[in-house]
Amino acid sequence: MSAILEVRHVTRRFAGLVAVNDVSLSLETGEILGLIGPNGAGKTTLISLISGTLEPTAGNILFQEKDITGLAAYRRARLGIGRTFQIMQPFPGLSVLDNVAVGALFGRGGGQAKLALAREQARVCLHFVGLSKEVDQRADELGGPGRKRLELAKALAMQPKVLLCDEVMSGLNMVEIEELIGVIRKVCDQGISVLVIEHVIKAIKSLSTRLIVLHHGEKIAEGNTDAVLSDPAVVQAYLGKRRT
Ligand SMILES: Nc1ncnc2c1ncn2[C@@H]1O[C@H](COP(=O)(O)OP(=O)(O)O)[C@@H](O)[C@H]1O
Ligand SMILES: [Mg+2]
Repeated sequence: MSAILEVRHVTRRFAGLVAVNDVSLSLETGEILGLIGPNGAGKTTLISLISGTLEPTAGNILFQEKDITGLAAYRRARLGIGRTFQIMQPFPGLSVLDNVAVGALFGRGGGQAKLALAREQARVCLHFVGLSKEVDQRADELGGPGRKRLELAKALAMQPKVLLCDEVMSGLNMVEIEELIGVIRKVCDQGISVLVIEHVIKAIKSLSTRLIVLHHGEKIAEGNTDAVLSDPAVVQAYLGKRRT
């Protein structure tokens, strides 16, 4: 396997706070890599640094062996870096279909120029995530679980090579979680490399053979998922959080 994405010694400061501190990781082509850590660990910041909505204070991001540090977010999206947003922001007045069509219009390689074709592509993505019945609803009529699927469909409509998933399973019940695990597996089967940020350990265990743990902005563990989950430093990071 070779790395499709590399994060090299990346640091991001916000005023006095170091949100991400000297983190390095690589996402191998075709893999599902897990990323966990307590709230405030720097997970979302790391995704924003990779997708380009934030710039690192130090360090570099490489995509397909090219340095993309400093490249605008929309250009990274066109190269094939897709992400979901933990705080979902659908275009509320637009239909579910058109929310996803927007992704298709602005996706990889510059996107799909024609609206009719973008909508066709959007339908395929909505079917893929299990939202076929909701295509004509307004996006703001969807409940929480539907919005999570919509986030995924929007990202997939951009035809990414890499998908960064930011807690797409939070707030879902066990049945919905099982379904989304299936969707993410299918994403990977399509040849898309996936970085999964998730608090739902069951999902991480079932999807990722390799896992990275962030704590206070630093990478505290990396390796085989089962081994990492039984690492005392990792257990402590979570238990320490739970006691407060
Ligand atoms: N735009 C920002 N301005 C200031 N601080 C921020 C900003 N974004 C995140 N942070 C801080 O950075 C730390 C990491 O946040 P975040 O990446 O959202 O963590 P996680 O996703 O792991 O819960 C937190 O302390 C958070 O308050
Ligand atoms: Mg987060």
